[in-house]
Amino acid sequence: MKKFATLCFIFSLLTGCASTQMSLYDELGGKDTVAQIVDNFIHEIEYNKTMFTYFAESDIERFREKLNEHLCLLANGPCTYTGDTMEQVHAGMNISESDFNLGVDLFIAAMTKANVPHTVQNKLLAKMVPTRKEIIYL
Ligand code: HEM
Repeated sequence: MKKFATLCFIFSLLTGCASTQMSLYDELGGKDTVAQIVDNFIHEIEYNKTMFTYFAESDIERFREKLNEHLCLLANGPCTYTGDTMEQVHAGMNISESDFNLGVDLFIAAMTKANVPHTVQNKLLAKMVPTRKEIIYL
């Protein structure tokens, strides 16, 4: 057992495997950075006429809380998502493809303003984009 542990230790030193165990949530900077991204994103929405129209009747504090949880879940962080499914939330909004893309653009701006490196941004976007089919034209 001791021999195995020693081998693991040497292997992790050689391969840098300790760093590969980081979750995307850790890479993003954890709770504080995700909260910063969400705050920035809400700010972007407020200043974008097209996006703001969708949110005009929304409870922004609920959105803030649920989006923090959802992003944490997408990034394999230690959170439980307590919001509704993507289909339930976006049903009836009839979000077009271009408005979805606009949302993604604003989200990228929010990550950039939170100083998230582009390589890490791309990893989160790769997790978000597949949710597209649960969001548009519903
Ligand atoms: C990958 C893209 C997206 C993700 C991951 C996402 C995620 C979420 C989450 C987690 C919530 C809160 C759920 C809850 O309250 O239970 C939410 C709410 C909402 N989303 Fe999205 N969303 C996305 C794209 C969009 C886009 C493109 C629009 C509009 C163009 C949009 C409009 C809204 C609105 C208006 C609400 C608030 C609904 C309400 O007040 O009940 N979302 N979204």
